[in-house]
Amino acid sequence: MTGPLQEIENLRKQIRHHNRQYYTLDSPEISDAEYDRLFRRLQELEEAHPALITPDSPTREVGAPPLETFAPVRHRVPMLSLQNAFNDFEITEFDARVRRFLAIPDSPPYMVEPKIDGLAVELVYRDGKLTTASTRGDGFVGENVTANVRTILAVPVALSEHPEAGPVPKLLEVRGEVYMEKDAFESLNRARRARGEPVFANPRNAAAGSLRQLDFRVTAKRPLTMFCYGVGIVRGADFSSQMQMMKAIQRWGLRVNAGMMERCESIEAVVDYCRRVERLRHSLPYEIDGVVVKVDDLPLQARLGQVSRSPRWAVAHKFSPSTETSRILKIALQVGRTGALTPVAHLEPVSVGGVVVKRATLHNEDEIRKKDIREGDTVIVQRAGDVIPEVVGVVTSGRTGAERPFVMPAHCPACGAGAVRKEGEAVLRCPNPACPAQAKEFFKHFVSKAAMNIDGLGEKTLLQMLVGGLVREPADLYSLRTEALLALDRMAEKSVENLLRSIERSKRTTLARVIYALGIRHVGQHTAEILARQFGSIERLQDTTEEELTAVHEIGPQIAEEILSYFADESNRQGIRRLLEKGVTYEAPAGGLSSGLTGKTFVLTGALESMTRSEARDVITARGGRLASSVSGSTDYVVAGDSPGSKLRRAAELGIEILDEQRFLAMVSAGDES
Ligand code: IVH
Repeated sequence: MTGPLQEIENLRKQIRHHNRQYYTLDSPEISDAEYDRLFRRLQELEEAHPALITPDSPTREVGAPPLETFAPVRHRVPMLSLQNAFNDFEITEFDARVRRFLAIPDSPPYMVEPKIDGLAVELVYRDGKLTTASTRGDGFVGENVTANVRTILAVPVALSEHPEAGPVPKLLEVRGEVYMEKDAFESLNRARRARGEPVFANPRNAAAGSLRQLDFRVTAKRPLTMFCYGVGIVRGADFSSQMQMMKAIQRWGLRVNAGMMERCESIEAVVDYCRRVERLRHSLPYEIDGVVVKVDDLPLQARLGQVSRSPRWAVAHKFSPSTETSRILKIALQVGRTGALTPVAHLEPVSVGGVVVKRATLHNEDEIRKKDIREGDTVIVQRAGDVIPEVVGVVTSGRTGAERPFVMPAHCPACGAGAVRKEGEAVLRCPNPACPAQAKEFFKHFVSKAAMNIDGLGEKTLLQMLVGGLVREPADLYSLRTEALLALDRMAEKSVENLLRSIERSKRTTLARVIYALGIRHVGQHTAEILARQFGSIERLQDTTEEELTAVHEIGPQIAEEILSYFADESNRQGIRRLLEKGVTYEAPAGGLSSGLTGKTFVLTGALESMTRSEARDVITARGGRLASSVSGSTDYVVAGDSPGSKLRRAAELGIEILDEQRFLAMVSAGDES
């Protein structure tokens, strides 16, 4: 057997396998992009050879058959899938198909909203009461997850009448996406990692794994939420457009993505919306993988109908993926500033969501073993927002037998000290406080923008200083002299002068920055700010007790333990003393500064005239507020400077108060004067 038939059968086999991995087992083996490529190739071949199409081809079916563990539920209206449009041209092609089919010269109005990366669920309301909730399954029969869905706060168990939407329909089948917000996903994984439990690869897997629990009490503890995007059968209500229907279901109590839904009068407006959403994609609190474009008019939708697996009236514009496939060239250990030895995969360079990735973290030994990651393996690499890329899984079907299992070295690669693993911890550490790699990482942290903010001190220069014995501890930075610096590679008079000026400038700083710069394990910027506000001086913090610490909101026993053990070490106390003796002074957040900013979350977009971003952070945190990087439901104010970005739009959509620089400064000084 040769030629297209063989390729077609081979592709169908692969796609069925990956459907099962993705839909049934929540354990994808290849990236979405790779899957889309296989799927497209099969579509192309079937188009070119229609005689070879069979009704059971994955191009005619949706997803994979359900697991046997939940009771089956038949969907009265099949839950379809969507055709994809990967670029602007394919969006306009979709529009052309719609116009051709309807025999109309102009584009009909479209309704657009983000494509949420979660899992599809159908809710059935009879006389306004939630009676059944089911997953999509194979599109015809899904799983009964009613008990689980009832635990989701965003899903009302009863609908309520609304003056503008009328009485609740007798029968309402609603479809939507159950998902987990990015922040909730991160904290769920953090807690799981701390308990030594396996972590979820991404929010979608976490949502699917959390919903499909045989014990609904497990689901109840997971932070799931839902956006509704469509309906199945409706009896007792009538709508004319998608937009109107979405408004109505929202008024009856269902959650829809109202802030992001738009009606577009032309296909150009659709393309423009897609571009805008792609740009703000990473600032959204949830993961999306594209935009769904729907013909808004419901009678037109009905006329358009469907082709075998998807409606003719909708298309999914998929963004460039944030996962890709690559190969592990080797696995090496990276030494962190606190001695953590993190295995890192060195990869064949691959572009993931527009950024070239050469390295990805493998987290720790347990993760490597759990995922059975080997040198030489073909792997799925994922990059989400600003976080470090990670290897989420192995494509075991790509193995040749030449792959080498990774053996965790018993020694620190930098100093040779025997590595240790504390009981109950997943990480291996280098215990040597004099380890040069640890020292380099520590100093990188100490001088970083968010810590002491010493400009012009790169990694290479730091390493030379450490190797040459110019600096051993932070205080040494404040005794550096021109002659010694000039002797270093690539340091000319001008750069030395700049560096010394920058070191001098860093002496006047804030307490939170000093605390953060110390590099205490688990004490990030936010925790440092809390500690600064609570204790007001290094001396007070040094002599604190466990009771005092754990009484502080947001400080748990684990952070408390790290702080206490840091200050229990006399050499750390001496190091701080010497630092202060060299003239480092800080401004403590005075109690009087707890103004209208206390407890408020700010997001900054664009440049301010009166201060840098990092100064704005200090101004806000010194008054008890918090500066976050992305706009979400918990943002109180967005401060818009010059050339603000997509965050401004997002703020407007969420109805968050927007301050210009003047009003922001007024708010700050009003608080300081009172
Ligand atoms: S409309 C006929 N709107 O994408 C299907 N789907 O490939 C109409 N999805 O599994 C679907 N966000 O669960 C629609 N805003 C949205 C969506 C959305 C996510 C999912 C849906 C389905 C898949 C379609």
